[in-house]
Amino acid sequence: MSAGLAFADSGSGAPLVLLHAFPFDRHFWNGVTPLLNENFRVIAPDLLGFGNSGATAQWSIADQGEAVSELLTSLGLQSASIVGLSMGGYVALALAANHPGQVASLILADTKAAPDAPKARAGREEAIALVLSQGVAAFADGMVGKLLGPHAHQDVHRSTRRLMNQPQHTVVTALKALRDRPDRRPDLPSVTAPCLVLGGTFDTISPPAEGREIAAALPNAQFVEIAGAGHLTNLEAPAAFAKIVTEFSRDRATTRT
Ligand code: MLT
Repeated sequence: MSAGLAFADSGSGAPLVLLHAFPFDRHFWNGVTPLLNENFRVIAPDLLGFGNSGATAQWSIADQGEAVSELLTSLGLQSASIVGLSMGGYVALALAANHPGQVASLILADTKAAPDAPKARAGREEAIALVLSQGVAAFADGMVGKLLGPHAHQDVHRSTRRLMNQPQHTVVTALKALRDRPDRRPDLPSVTAPCLVLGGTFDTISPPAEGREIAAALPNAQFVEIAGAGHLTNLEAPAAFAKIVTEFSRDRATTRT
């Protein structure tokens, strides 16, 4: 699938590509971008169908990886440091599997390599039915609390909820793509780029234990926990998130074009 992704581009230096979670868009990164673009050229795309990357066709997580690969090529970048959070991590793993040369380093935040188990697949069906019958707002109202940890401030709940505003078609397509994403665990031993796996203590969607397993399966990885945060570590702990990303990526990023 070929579609030019809309993206934000700020700062200068080695390229750092930020891949957002579901159901968000590039604005997901607004809190950390000013902290990261002091040191990097920060490129934050709207993934296919989200934000300004409108797409009516069906897409898979692999298609999203191809779209990110095409974006890098169109920008004349041979490779970049990739940061993917949750769904963005699934996309980052697809990119690393299919275009390893484009990945200078990889940060997998609050994400999984395993596919949906039968219970999770059933949950996707329920979510699709809810979105179709009651709309995206009802789905987002029910989801936001699950994304954040128990200590997240009410302001973070409100701002996160405001960001969860995507077209109905996109949310349904995404739920199908998330449900059908492949098992990336067999690919992990072949990912040779330096990796950091990052997780929030109270993430119940991608628990830290799962992050530690991913790090253990990668040949060149470390695991870092953001204490006290839930699933959306960048929104709950932006300063800690940006510090970890900066310290890891600074020495590993590349300016090759
Ligand atoms: C996300 O944060 O992107 C989603 O929780 C991913 C998922 O539902 O698998």
